[in-house]
Amino acid sequence: MSELNKIALKIISNGKGILAADESNATMTKRLEAVNVNSTPENRLLFRESIFSSNGMKEYIGGVILYDETIKQMTSFGKSIPDLISSSGALTGIKVDTGIKDLENSSREKITEGLDGLRERLKKYYELGARFTKWRAVYVINDKHPSKLAVKNNSHALARYASLVQESRMVPIVEPEVLMDGDHSVDSCLRKTSEVIKKCFDELILHKVDLSGVILKPNMILAGTKSKDKISAEEISLKTLECLKNSVPEEVPGIAFLSGGQKEIEATENLNLINKNNNTKFIITFSYGRALQQSALRMWSKNTKDIESTQNTFNHRAKMCSLAAQGKWSNKLENK
Ligand code: G3H
Repeated sequence: MSELNKIALKIISNGKGILAADESNATMTKRLEAVNVNSTPENRLLFRESIFSSNGMKEYIGGVILYDETIKQMTSFGKSIPDLISSSGALTGIKVDTGIKDLENSSREKITEGLDGLRERLKKYYELGARFTKWRAVYVINDKHPSKLAVKNNSHALARYASLVQESRMVPIVEPEVLMDGDHSVDSCLRKTSEVIKKCFDELILHKVDLSGVILKPNMILAGTKSKDKISAEEISLKTLECLKNSVPEEVPGIAFLSGGQKEIEATENLNLINKNNNTKFIITFSYGRALQQSALRMWSKNTKDIESTQNTFNHRAKMCSLAAQGKWSNKLENK
């Protein structure tokens, strides 16, 4: 078993999943302002250190993805954030792309940037304690999109990123996200998501990336938010598994889904059914941002000194997601 494969398995095995706390300052500002809290470095740290110190971290979280600001911060009780995360038994991850920009000659599409100087930044992140990383490519889908240009460029960037990360002895999370926005059908989402994942792996293979040391972070197969299709959670789970089977090479140890704007319980129920019906060899878990933190953030915003209630809210959500990662979640347990 390679070192990279061991790291990947440590993050996603035994019902554990990933806490995606890597919102950029701009995104975190939106999240905090939505609950009437000022977005200062101190407030961003306070919320995050409350979550990272919770009991739920020890039991349900195998890895935490951080943003550049957070990995360099010291907690209010004098520990570095990577030390706090490793004291709970989880591994520290870091978002290393520098964000999405308009893709030239394709007005509605995006390209993810961040390859320039990446090798040097990775070295520093490793020294700070990071053992895995994330890079997110974003696709809009409709009759004309994604274009070949967007798929080619984003897949190439994901592969360059992944090979540089493995060279730095870290596990790359590769995230080719098809957005939920739009009126596309669930079958269109299945077809187009399969296409972008396949193309991503073609490029990873071309770049000689060790697939046993990669975690895939895809979207679930859903109808667009403006679609009239009414799809059951069972159907979502079967279409999602069909997508994984026809597009992900078997050497990949695991899949950690993004929540992508699904409500907390929706993202939990869908993950649960995917695991109940899992007929693949992949470990399937969560790498949620909003679907793990939304309720905890709302609770914290009511009284930022009430750390206990914030942590209890997070602990419950993390436990439910962990149960779903084992196909053991139920409505009854959710409401207990
Ligand atoms: O890249 C996406 C985030 O890490 C996951 O966030 O679960 O809110 O979509 P989300």
